[in-house]
Amino acid sequence: MAKQIRGSKNSTYGVIATKICIIYDSKYGNTKLVAQQIADGLKEVPRIETMIGYVKEVEEKKFVDCDVMIIGAPNHMGKPSRAITKFVDNFPEFDLKAKWVAVFDTYFQRQRYFEKAMEKLEYHIKKKLPDVKVITHGLSIKVNGVNGPIADGELPKAKAFGKKIGCLLIG
Ligand SMILES: Cc1cc2nc3c(=O)[nH]c(=O)nc-3n(C[C@H](O)[C@H](O)[C@H](O)COP(=O)(O)O)c2cc1C
Repeated sequence: MAKQIRGSKNSTYGVIATKICIIYDSKYGNTKLVAQQIADGLKEVPRIETMIGYVKEVEEKKFVDCDVMIIGAPNHMGKPSRAITKFVDNFPEFDLKAKWVAVFDTYFQRQRYFEKAMEKLEYHIKKKLPDVKVITHGLSIKVNGVNGPIADGELPKAKAFGKKIGCLLIG
């Protein structure tokens, strides 16, 4: 799998690098924290370049040439937040290089909400970009209350998720 996914971009070190963009939405900062932890996990894997962007500020040129996109949103009414859905809706208008994707969400309600937004986000991306493949099952992170904080023991899962994706890419 590594050969299929690996990018062809020369990094500053002159070795083949895979460029990963993490795009997130966040109202209270919890999903942003998860995105940063995922990036920290990716940093532990060599030959990976990571870029993080807040969905409402990220420039098109920053993500169109990514090999992999990791997209995250807070669960809003059982769905990914509107800003992320809108971002995905615009995918067909961009000449996206990415052929691989992974998703994550944050949620606070009871067990039945667990993974809901993440699953819907994955489904939505597949509908918009049928050729894009999911690298690994998405991540769902629990927060305590609408504005957080992130529940005990959840953040390490985000770092591990990033590292896992990096290892899958590099092989
Ligand atoms: C408008 C709104 C609707 C929400 N609906 C849900 C929901 O249906 N299920 C749930 O588990 N959490 C829900 N939440 C809680 C969010 O998941 C929580 O605010 C979010 O994970 C925090 O992430 P953030 O700090 O990145 O915004 C909702 C929050 C808001 C603001």
